Amino acid sequence: MQQITSKVNPIIWKEDKLLVLDQRLLPYEKKYLELKTYKEVIHAIKDMVVRGAPLIGITAAYGMALAAVVGNGRDHSLQQESLIATGEEIKQSRPTAINLKWAVDLVLNDISAVTGHDHDLRDIVIKRAKWIHEDDAMRCQRMGEYGAKIIKQIASAHPHTFTSVLTICNTGALATGGIGTAFGVILTAYRNNPNIKIYAAETRPRQQGARLTTFEFVENDIECTLVPDTACGHLMQKGEIDFVITGADRIASNGDSANKIGTYQLAVLAKENNIPFYVAAPLSTFDLSIKCGDEIPIEEREEEEVTHINGKQICANGVKVRNPAFDVTPHKYITGIITEAGVLSGNYVEAIKNTFNQIVLV
Ligand code: MRU
Repeated sequence: MQQITSKVNPIIWKEDKLLVLDQRLLPYEKKYLELKTYKEVIHAIKDMVVRGAPLIGITAAYGMALAAVVGNGRDHSLQQESLIATGEEIKQSRPTAINLKWAVDLVLNDISAVTGHDHDLRDIVIKRAKWIHEDDAMRCQRMGEYGAKIIKQIASAHPHTFTSVLTICNTGALATGGIGTAFGVILTAYRNNPNIKIYAAETRPRQQGARLTTFEFVENDIECTLVPDTACGHLMQKGEIDFVITGADRIASNGDSANKIGTYQLAVLAKENNIPFYVAAPLSTFDLSIKCGDEIPIEEREEEEVTHINGKQICANGVKVRNPAFDVTPHKYITGIITEAGVLSGNYVEAIKNTFNQIVLV
């Protein structure tokens, strides 16, 4: 299959500094921030300058690289100790996406494996961060290929009309090191057959669908239709959606998948309306240390994300607010999980176990 590319690039390592596209400003302004310290990286992750599970991991790894650059030339053992503490601090920046821990742990393993003083920790950490970045791009390509085959199959059932795909949040280049997870699948399918109608759910409260996903489709010259989150059930009921696909922030050993708030209701509605519901995620999003979705920590974010839109209050003063940023879709609602190693379905415990037994990560 041809290499699929995106015109959007959210992160660049350049001359020992990290440039990140400030996603808080999109789609109005395209501005890169220059990050020089790991503390700035933590702030960028917490404040969602960068977001999306794989991209959070990549950014965290580059945060370790910045710490290694700053500490370069210090006593070797002290630098090693300090980097280990830095890694633990970076891992706390957001709780749900497991890719953050996965990426930092890969860097920490490399650091801990160094014995003797003749190794340059700076070079080791930068090399690993770049590898995590490039490796994610490859994973996205493979997910794209596997997922596009599924969409092609669904499209073959009605060759003379459009195939309609619904997605939520942003799972594209702005969320990964490559073309994206769910977004990458749609992009790949579209490049192979433009007879696809794409629906993007707006994704309240932070509007990643409205602000970021529509931006990415427009940047890539692809038409997409924005819908309120509350309209998705109606469209499914009316037979206007053939396929739902989302990303994931953490997948438990039994296939239960945490993703952006609102995903669970899409999955339930898809089942009710006999519409296939797929999750696309790299193996770095799986957390085999937990049995099921109940164990996934769900981030609660600040009230202002709900009470305000573009700085303007939209509700009565003093109202109580809940703002969980993610929800968990039980595996029984998931038709298949598209990974870079193939599509998992059926008995997820077995399928996930077998996949990890066959694949050597790292
Ligand atoms: O809060 P966000 O914007 O970081 O949430 C992102 C999502 O929920 C994505 O769907 C998920 O990270 C998968 S992205 C490849």
